[in-house]
Amino acid sequence: MVVEGPPPLAQPERPFRAEDGTILAMITDTAEFRALADHRVAMADLHLRDLFATDPARGETFAATAADLYLDYSKNLVTAETMTLLMALARRAAVQQRIEAMFTGEAINVTERRAALHVALRAPAGTVMIVDGEDVVPDVHRVLERMADFALRVRSGEWWGYTGRPIRNVVNIGIGGSDLGPAMAAEALAAYADPALSIRFVSNVDGADLTDALAGLDPAETLFVVCSKTFTTLETLTNAHSARRWLLAALEEEAAVAHHFVAASSNPAEVSGFGIDPANMFEFWDWVGGRYSLDSAIGLTVMIAIGPERFRELLDGFHQMDRHFRTAPLPANMPVVLAMLGIWHGNFLGAETHAVLPYSARLRRFPAYLQQLDMESNGKSVTLDGRPVATSTGPVVWGQPGTNGQHAFFQLLHQGTRLVPCDFIGFLHPDHPLGEHHPQLVANLFAQSEALAFGRTRAEVEEEETDPELVPHRVFPGNRPSNTILAPRLTPRLLGELVALYEHKVFVQGIVWGINSFDQWGVELGKVLAGRIGRELTQPTPPDLAHDSSTDALIRRYRNEHRNR
Ligand code: F6P
Repeated sequence: MVVEGPPPLAQPERPFRAEDGTILAMITDTAEFRALADHRVAMADLHLRDLFATDPARGETFAATAADLYLDYSKNLVTAETMTLLMALARRAAVQQRIEAMFTGEAINVTERRAALHVALRAPAGTVMIVDGEDVVPDVHRVLERMADFALRVRSGEWWGYTGRPIRNVVNIGIGGSDLGPAMAAEALAAYADPALSIRFVSNVDGADLTDALAGLDPAETLFVVCSKTFTTLETLTNAHSARRWLLAALEEEAAVAHHFVAASSNPAEVSGFGIDPANMFEFWDWVGGRYSLDSAIGLTVMIAIGPERFRELLDGFHQMDRHFRTAPLPANMPVVLAMLGIWHGNFLGAETHAVLPYSARLRRFPAYLQQLDMESNGKSVTLDGRPVATSTGPVVWGQPGTNGQHAFFQLLHQGTRLVPCDFIGFLHPDHPLGEHHPQLVANLFAQSEALAFGRTRAEVEEEETDPELVPHRVFPGNRPSNTILAPRLTPRLLGELVALYEHKVFVQGIVWGINSFDQWGVELGKVLAGRIGRELTQPTPPDLAHDSSTDALIRRYRNEHRNR
């Protein structure tokens, strides 16, 4: 559905954003925001049943296409007027200009004074993308070539382990963006992976993670890909050191490390300090945020699994969505539409969370991936200029694949007291040979969004001669919003499109809220405290504890338990 043209609104008292992107007013102070608040009141008694009854074409007009994706957003509590008002808010927030600022390499990550140019990672060779006066695309392709060369050598058995045996196991060590993206993608694209390779992921500093990942592996046939942008992350370095000890316990010679460890990082000094040959480091740049790094060298394990050609298809998928995002008019721009619907739900309808429900077992890690993407990006409570925001920002993102979720938490979605907007994601074709499963899977997806939207009225329940006492229990209120994203099949290209769709959605929401979606200062305090507490737990002499009484007591309890061991 395309709603063109500016809405008939008065100008805000103050402009929201200056030419250079700085925030001049709260988004809540704009006439566009207030118009939406008034509109919400006028919409209070509308039910999706009425909206569909009065507009028979609604199911097809409230829809958008981008690359291979089809978005049906008709089952949201919106009218054409709502969409017009939401697009007016997007214009007031200067969404189009900020999109250009991102693509042209402006330092939009203001608190870290750098660009957020992940779109350059999937720009075709020959494209020009400038950061600090330099075209970064040639460098991106140089690293991609090195990755491809290495991945092919591992896949063909030409990259030997120290004893001359080919690599059969690849263990990715990383955490956060250096784990969630590659782990999600490797699982999503399992149908395209080389079955001769066993691919594993280790992230947690809980030693059980590494222990389980290494179980049954022969060190002589195992390659570790250590992924860390900073190469200082406690979890990753702890796991990498333990992995090195495991390797050397079997292969004995220090020289074995060079054959069995490679790194993806932007910190060559720390990588070589660990003992990894800089020739075996695949670099990326400070303008790539951790949660936006799947398509950088951090994707090396995925490339080894599916091969360079498929990896390039993945990048092409990202790029197709980037092009759409940069060029499509706002009302037809899929990331913008999703973003503004999310703002409608969160800022005007009171939704606190957002469920992501892929009807695909292979996308089982997609909700966890989106949690970092969305919550680390938009879990912020000050604007770009440091003032407290005046409205709620990023939602709690959660979810599980269908149909499993139906037998777990869908009860609350249908009959609970909370409004939980949902994204259903499904595919027209399966990527497995068991054809008879697929119509059942898709039928469940369509059934759930229908049930959420339309429910079952008291009259309908009574018509079924239901025991009168049970009638209230069997009524489904409906009117619960959802998007349905449909795609032909789960391919590398498609996965790229899907990830880029959500990356850009999150960015647009950050623009409207006037926050920085590209920093993550909120993770720092816990890291600092963990360092101090780690020393207090293990130092031989009793520490002078000076935390709060709760934390001190917990530390003492741990130390007492370990005193005589
Ligand atoms: O702690 C959060 C974080 O900084 C994420 O933003 C990042 O993806 C993750 O840690 C891992 O960081 P690195 O790749 O530097 O090890």
